[in-house]
Amino acid sequence: MSHDSEPEMTVLLESDWASGSLVDDVRRGLTRHPRTLPPRWLYDDRGSGLFDEITRLPEYYPFSAERSILQAQADEIVVASGATTLVELGSGTSEKTRLLLDAFTRNGQLTRFVPIDVSEGTLRDAATQIASAYPGVEVAGVVGDFTLHLAHLPRGGRRMVAFLGGTIGNLYLEERTAFLGALADVLEPGDSVLLGTDLVKSADRLIAAYNDSAGVTEQFIRNTLTVVNRELGADFDQAGFSYVPFWDAHMERMDLRLRSEVPQRVTVPGADLVVDLAVGEEIRIEISTKFRVSRIAAELEAAGLGVTRVWTDEPGDFALTLATKP
Ligand code: AVJ
Repeated sequence: MSHDSEPEMTVLLESDWASGSLVDDVRRGLTRHPRTLPPRWLYDDRGSGLFDEITRLPEYYPFSAERSILQAQADEIVVASGATTLVELGSGTSEKTRLLLDAFTRNGQLTRFVPIDVSEGTLRDAATQIASAYPGVEVAGVVGDFTLHLAHLPRGGRRMVAFLGGTIGNLYLEERTAFLGALADVLEPGDSVLLGTDLVKSADRLIAAYNDSAGVTEQFIRNTLTVVNRELGADFDQAGFSYVPFWDAHMERMDLRLRSEVPQRVTVPGADLVVDLAVGEEIRIEISTKFRVSRIAAELEAAGLGVTRVWTDEPGDFALTLATKP
């Protein structure tokens, strides 16, 4: 009996988050100022589901903007890449990636798809669905963190590494530089990166996209506290916090925070930590940096990648940049 459509799965993250870097992240993040919690902890199965809901919100334009570029340009992208393996970092449901997979199918060159995500449940579902929808493609999922596990990317063939959705905007400049450098290091000559980036636009539209009227984004951001409560036995009280999304015009990024509305003590037994929060004190949960096309190109070039093509949607809301390792 053939198991061709069964995806293969490699787990590089411990499924018991409490034993992994969550503890370090929480200790480091909650003891410094401004207090932070890194965004990767937003994506347990519930958080991944909430993010999926965000992508269907009318205010959340990046999803449809990127999809419209892929709809119009997927054939050009796959031909320009010449890839036989498609790697996707932070793949989530891989919903839009199907537009690339369809183009690869039309052009007949793809043999392997490697989705990488921290959320094991979401990744398994996506990998299984894709394996059955694209029977000619070997699907090899990796449960991992794109900032930590680049060295584990499968080798061989010509690879295109897609990093879509604007997720690179979660990283601070130093992290971006380190990430793009590490990515360039693991690529072979001829391999390429397809990078999705959200572009700078009016503050009104940006704020609406991260402060939707249905309150889904707020639930998504608040989910971090739920994760820390569950994984590390913390006693964060959601009622003691309000959601504060704002546009930092100087840094050109959305800054998504939770503000303590009362003086409160939070205990995090799993991290051996007690944190006293004053009224008005904020915890930064996520940044979402917005880019200019020239800056994206400069950062890719600085990492040693050569920009081959840039595609934007009609209103100029979002960009996809293809860069190749020389
Ligand atoms: C998945 C990082 C691209 O920054 O727009 C959406 C995450 N956070 N709404 C983004 C997010 C709140 C999203 N990325």
